[in-house]
Amino acid sequence: MKKRVLSGMRPTGKLHLGHLVGALENWVKLQEDYDAFFMAADWHALMGEYENPSVISESIIDNVADWLAAGIDPSKSVIFIQSQVPEHLELHMIFSCFTPLGWLERCPTYKEQLKEANTRDLHTYGFLGYPVLQAADILIYKAEKVPVGEDQLPHLELTREIARRFNGFYKQEVFPDPGAILTKTPRLLGLDGRKMSKSYGNTINLSDPEEVIRKKISSMVTDPKRIKVSDPGQPGICNVFSYYSVFAAGEKEELYKACSNAQLGCVECKNKFACLLAEKLMPFRKEKEELLKDKSRIIKILEEGKEKASLIAAKTLQEARLAMKMSL
Ligand code: TRP
Ligand code: SF4
Repeated sequence: MKKRVLSGMRPTGKLHLGHLVGALENWVKLQEDYDAFFMAADWHALMGEYENPSVISESIIDNVADWLAAGIDPSKSVIFIQSQVPEHLELHMIFSCFTPLGWLERCPTYKEQLKEANTRDLHTYGFLGYPVLQAADILIYKAEKVPVGEDQLPHLELTREIARRFNGFYKQEVFPDPGAILTKTPRLLGLDGRKMSKSYGNTINLSDPEEVIRKKISSMVTDPKRIKVSDPGQPGICNVFSYYSVFAAGEKEELYKACSNAQLGCVECKNKFACLLAEKLMPFRKEKEELLKDKSRIIKILEEGKEKASLIAAKTLQEARLAMKMSL
């Protein structure tokens, strides 16, 4: 029997390169060896976008088209929308009753996001419970592995603590102890060297056309000490070089030499990279365009995903209620 993995993404806008190398490429590999569940976490998206929820429904089809274009295969993976399986919320409610406030208030992602959020107010009842809903997402399918980025590890730790607390209170091993599958890809920073994020406006989106990719890359800061082409560059501190390392590892060494020997100028280097990236993304963009011509196919995939996910979710919820003696 294959082990189960579950992961999710919040549909809050266009997907970018960070999503591709940080999650999607990994998901595509995992679906070969695991019983894979991938969901659009629209409730989690709503926690941040409650003033402008239309972006969520607009993003779901677009993001799922990206997943499919990247190679997520509906015959291998269950692809679904979180809010279409209401059992997530029921389990979230059960967990909410016994999750100590301190666990949530101390969660580092919670504190960080409260500090960082300047365009919206995250001091809400729902947002405090973000990791509790995430625990329900994972445990309702009894997923054993959760592919996530490092930033999500505190949520996984809370998931395990919630699972243990449940099993301990109701004296039954209903929930497993899920572990993380960390993405090995080096962190891909945004165009400005900060974390790649829509809110910083420093992303390259998966659907950006070639001209946009070119423009964005030409705006990147390189080695600040390099003023003339004849100045030797320091690829080690240049973000363009780290992009090469992620997308064209084979050319890394040669570039390193050419840059540090002042044989290659930054303009040319960026141009080369823009070409390379645009070429790499081309088949992906074509496939996505094709997929979006017939949205009913995507809707059907999500419908089938919902059916498959619901069967398991309903069964787990029933088991949880039985263990709690909450069922008649
Ligand atoms: N919190 C995750 C993120 O922001 C998204 C998410 C929601 C998730 N539910 C999940 C990830 C369950 C893994 C498992 O990226
Ligand atoms: Fe960066 Fe390329 Fe310029 Fe070297 S040549 S500093 S790697 S952009």
